[in-house]
Amino acid sequence: MTYIELKDSTKKFKTGDTEIIANDSLSFSIEKGELVVVLGASGAGKSTLLNILGGMDTNDSGQVIIDGENISTYSDKELTTYRRHGVGFVFQFYNLVQNLTTKENVELASEIAKDPLDSVDVLQQVGLDDRIDNFPAQLSGGEQQRVSIARAIAKNPKILLCDEPTGALDSQTGKQILQILQDRSRNEGSTVIIVTHNSAIAPIADRVIRMCDAKIQKVETSGQPSDINDIEW
Ligand SMILES: Nc1ncnc2c1ncn2[C@@H]1O[C@H](COP(=O)(O)OP(=O)(O)OP(=O)(O)O)[C@@H](O)[C@H]1O
Ligand SMILES: [Mg+2]
Repeated sequence: MTYIELKDSTKKFKTGDTEIIANDSLSFSIEKGELVVVLGASGAGKSTLLNILGGMDTNDSGQVIIDGENISTYSDKELTTYRRHGVGFVFQFYNLVQNLTTKENVELASEIAKDPLDSVDVLQQVGLDDRIDNFPAQLSGGEQQRVSIARAIAKNPKILLCDEPTGALDSQTGKQILQILQDRSRNEGSTVIIVTHNSAIAPIADRVIRMCDAKIQKVETSGQPSDINDIEW
């Protein structure tokens, strides 16, 4: 069943006199429960796409249909509800609240969700059970990234949007995180979208969307995604 569908979605940014097309007429569809990898070089428009899918930014034209609803016509209030209940977002640069502990950062997000998971359980899954009372400044980059991942997962969302979720992680910890994300899709039916420039991650996906210069270059589906233990980077 098609769960996410983009039809000619375009987003431009204007700075002074120059206009940049960040997403140029993107069209694709994603099935419910798929693990999707969006690949593309720096500046290809991946974060812009993810922000639009997550209701954090709006496009200029085209449709963004999520579970049958075109969110590109949503009001700010409708977008807030959509973000709050429908989406878990792993930010490229973590966006943790600096004066809250690890546990509080995760709870802040899960408290507003409808059917959240236990914060400490999720922190345990990402290997941070001994860091729950630390503040972000006391954590390494990779640990902060894992708090950000735990925060998104603890909301137990239908859609998990992850912007370079393994960017700061060594390959072993990265694989542990990818396994958690794949389990969310396989066992809980969450639709998981991972944005990365690391093409080594692509084989684990059910669908790979390649972006280049603000456009979709290619969409491939895989009947037999690789085991996470079999990839290497
Ligand atoms: N708020 C903004 N204002 C102006 N230009 C922007 C803004 N956000 C993104 N852009 C531009 O849009 C293009 C796409 O940016 P985007 O962040 O989506 O790329 P990306 O694929 O995520 O890159 P990276 O892999 O480096 O994170 C870039 O040229 C970028 O400079
Ligand atoms: Mg980006």
